[in-house]
Amino acid sequence: MATSRRDKADSYTLRARREGYPARSVYKLEEIQQQNHVIKPGDTVLDVGAAPGSWTLYTHRELIRGNGTIIAVDLNPLNLNPVPPTVTAYVGDAFSREIRAQLTSHGPFDAIISDAAPMTTGNRTVDTTRSEYLAEQVVFLAEEQLKTHGNLVIKIFQGGGQQQILQKMRTMFSKAKTLKPKACRTDSFEIYLIGLDKK
Ligand SMILES: C[S@@+](CC[C@H](N)C(=O)[O-])C[C@H]1O[C@@H](n2cnc3c(N)ncnc32)[C@H](O)[C@@H]1O
Repeated sequence: MATSRRDKADSYTLRARREGYPARSVYKLEEIQQQNHVIKPGDTVLDVGAAPGSWTLYTHRELIRGNGTIIAVDLNPLNLNPVPPTVTAYVGDAFSREIRAQLTSHGPFDAIISDAAPMTTGNRTVDTTRSEYLAEQVVFLAEEQLKTHGNLVIKIFQGGGQQQILQKMRTMFSKAKTLKPKACRTDSFEIYLIGLDKK
């Protein structure tokens, strides 16, 4: 019997639950990492839009393997109990003056990963515009706070300014590309922009 799209999505959810992750999005970062090696043990990583905390926990367990530092920021608190010892978490708007100052006090970073997404309204123009704004802010942060040779991962909703942001990333990185991980729901219009080896 053919497996429906939602069945497949559910299998990621069940796997996340089994493996102790608060969200199925962990498998998007897993695929991004397997193909691009964005994070290594010892790295200082900034995780933007980190809640409930799957990317943060996966980075702690599997990527820096307890050796390194993760700065996690989200409008909402992480849902990790306990919060891993490598993690310092901030709650607030990553791009507000106050939180940005806190984040940059831990920089510069070896990798910046952003799964940040706006609350969706169902209006595609509104949603893509808001997602584009978040992605642009992360690129500005990376211009300032990502180390030379550092790597960047940004979620963006397709249909907005994805091409312009990718063009900008091509000037900043030795390599910049897009990836739609298999764990993205097939009806989702999200995609990831990946910048490797900051110039
Ligand atoms: C898809 S969730 C992230 C899931 C997370 N990567 C995980 O694996 O658990 C998107 C997150 O982006 C956050 N977000 C949106 N705008 C933000 C902002 N300006 N500053 C910080 N976080 C933001 C939302 O609160 C939401 O928790």
